[in-house]
Amino acid sequence: MIDEEKVFKDPVHGYIYVNDPLIWDLINTREVQRLRRIRQLGTSYLTYPGGEHSRFSHSLGVYEVIRQIVQAFSRNSYEWPDEYNQLVMAAGLLHDVGHAPFSHTLEKVIGLRHEVWTERLILDPSTEIHQVLKHISPNLPYDVAAVINKTHPQQLVVSLVSGQLDADRLDYLMRDSVSTGVDYGKFDLARIIRVMRPWDGRIVVKRSGLHTVEAYLLARYFMYWQVYFHPVSRSAEVILKAILRRVKDLVEKGQSPEMPHPALTGLFLETLNLERYVALDDTVLFNAFNVWQNSADPILKDLCNRFLDRHLFTYVEYPEYDPDLYDKIAAQLKHQGYDPAYYLAIDETGTVYYDYYLGAEDGKDKDSALFLWDDSSKRLIEMSRLSKPVNAIARERQVIRRIYFPREIQWNT
Ligand code: NI
Repeated sequence: MIDEEKVFKDPVHGYIYVNDPLIWDLINTREVQRLRRIRQLGTSYLTYPGGEHSRFSHSLGVYEVIRQIVQAFSRNSYEWPDEYNQLVMAAGLLHDVGHAPFSHTLEKVIGLRHEVWTERLILDPSTEIHQVLKHISPNLPYDVAAVINKTHPQQLVVSLVSGQLDADRLDYLMRDSVSTGVDYGKFDLARIIRVMRPWDGRIVVKRSGLHTVEAYLLARYFMYWQVYFHPVSRSAEVILKAILRRVKDLVEKGQSPEMPHPALTGLFLETLNLERYVALDDTVLFNAFNVWQNSADPILKDLCNRFLDRHLFTYVEYPEYDPDLYDKIAAQLKHQGYDPAYYLAIDETGTVYYDYYLGAEDGKDKDSALFLWDDSSKRLIEMSRLSKPVNAIARERQVIRRIYFPREIQWNT
């Protein structure tokens, strides 16, 4: 125990409580503190001015949700292995520690994988995280990494960090909703925690909690449409990708723009070692865009101006029945003197809001469906069998395809 309980004031949970010295020490490592300088929602702040919260606040939030869940399990004497409390709280706090700034965009263009970096930051003996974990027990870094990458033998512990109803989703949906002001992304978190039960290696929900979980799944559905797939945020991502591609292409041609930070040199010119990766945050990228606003390369200069001043691209839907649309817009772009390699993009996005086989690509959690425990019949019932609205959004993948290009292009659909 810490001498005095530590608290953080938080817009989602009210207070976040830290009693365990391990959690406190982990919060104070430089790798976790770095998350204060990375926005959780990437480019969404350009659509929702409030969407500025950091990955640090989300990571604390996931820890807090797990703390509340394991406390509720112990209070009610459910069959929950108490000896895993510290492990699962640490895994919740660290689950996103390897994210880069604008992670998903950067990952696609540069080929980084945040999961790989999360594991390295936990397992590499040089990191402060590793040293803090190892101080408790030599195996702890490996156990924490195993919970996060879903290879830990205790499936129940894994499912609190990643599953259909995990602490990660519970926190980010609420937090993104509170910050952006998209109110229908909210749901009754306290009651979800109350109706959760550990059951035979998985988390299930008491049948009377059906509507509470329905509200959570519908909140997820709304948040995807209103926030994560928002066409304006996607437009900013398209420009961000074009900037990164332009820099890569210039580097390949031997015309590298100025690299105002060694982390960028690592990213584009040499290798990205651990030291440089930890230095890579939003400030490094924004500073680079500022510098490149005055680049000698007209394309890089223009793209950086567009991103920083929010002169984003416009878009049209790209329906299956009109495959020629892309070529038509490309021809018009060229005609007006723009290079389609940087000024034209197809953006395809989509998700499954509730899927039986979520994660089936890696074959690890095929049975991650949501189950309700029916006390009268003493059996589990899969969620979409009981709920018409959930059945309506389950399994099917909804895909959105749009073509983005500069507003100045004269194009009428
Ligand atoms: Ni997360």
